[in-house]
Formats: sequence, C-alpha cells, structure tokens
Amino acid sequence: MRRRSIRKYTDERVTNEQVSGLLKAAMNAPTARNLRPWHFIVMRDREKMDRVPSFHAYSQMMREATVAVLVCGDMKVQERMGYLSADLGAATQNLLLEATEMGLGTVWLGIYPREERMGPIRDLLGIPDHILPFSLVPIGYPAEEKPIRDKFDPERVHNDGW
Ligand SMILES: Cc1cc2nc3c(=O)[nH]c(=O)nc-3n(C[C@H](O)[C@H](O)[C@H](O)COP(=O)(O)O)c2cc1C
Repeated sequence: MRRRSIRKYTDERVTNEQVSGLLKAAMNAPTARNLRPWHFIVMRDREKMDRVPSFHAYSQMMREATVAVLVCGDMKVQERMGYLSADLGAATQNLLLEATEMGLGTVWLGIYPREERMGPIRDLLGIPDHILPFSLVPIGYPAEEKPIRDKFDPERVHNDGW
C-alpha cells in the first residue's frame, strides 16, 4: 500500500549493495515453469541515462536518478510473450516493493511493447535481438512525498461468477 510512483529524487547515492538487494527481490518473483527468463541491466552511466528521454517522452526523471534497472527477458528461454511479460511484470513489481521497503523511490517506465522505445534502448545498451527490453526503473532517494492512495473498488470484485 505504501508503494507509489516517485519521479523526483535527491542526489544521495544508492549503493551497489542496495541495488543487489533490489535484484534479489526481483529474482524471487514467480515465473511460469520456474524458467526465470530475466536479465537486468544496471545503468549508472550519466550520459546513457540522460539519453533515454530523447526517445521516451515520459522518462524525464531518468536525468535525476543516480541508478536505473532495465528489466529484460530472454525470448529463447520463454518463447510465449504472454508468459514472458507476466514474469517480467512480477519481477518489476517485486523490485518496486523492495525499494519501498528500503525507503527508496522508483517508477515503472514502460518499454515493451513499444517498438519506438525498444529499438533505441537496444542500440543504447547493445542488447542482442533475442533479449526483450521490458521495463525501466529509475531508483533514488525520494524528493517528493506521496500519500497512500486506496484504489480498492468493490465494483471490480465478483463473487462466484460475473
Ligand atoms: C506498464 C506500465 C508502464 C508505465 N509507464 C510509465 C512511464 O512511462 N512514465 C511514468 O512516469 N510512469 C509510468 N508508469 C507508472 C504509472 O503512471 C503509475 O503506476 C500510475 O499512475 C499509478 O500511480 P502509482 O504508481 O503512484 O500508484 C507505468 C506503469 C506501468 C505499470
């Protein structure tokens, strides 16, 4: 319930140990057939991070974050795109939840299935063709506070059938 999209960060450094903790949580996500079809690219290069908003209009916070993780999937390991995106979504969400627990701020930036974002990020990071860039998560210490927002909607709940 405490997780919110945080788009403003202080310049305090997020350590490699913290990033490892986030990736540990991400890799603890459930996956179809326990295939764990993921790879994670840790971005710290300022120039590369600053390039992202040139092809992704809703990623301006990449300029403020000191580190970001690109969640990727191996299409040779999981060939069904439905399962691959479900697995990578679960990993992304685990990462966001662990970051909240650590007092860090994150936001999920959609990459897949938008070719106009996938192509440029492949080029930027040298990602091979069988690896799918799925989501990009900038990480930092929050420089904005957001309240818990209760999104529970009883109309979306159906008991014993539609
Ligand atoms: C698949 C997906 C793609 C998203 N893409 C973006 C994005 O490109 N830029 C952004 O600022 N937020 C992005 N978001 C975050 C949503 O805007 C955010 O989760 C939503 O507004 C609800 O707010 P909350 O996360 O604070 O609960 C994305 C979220 C998801 C799940």
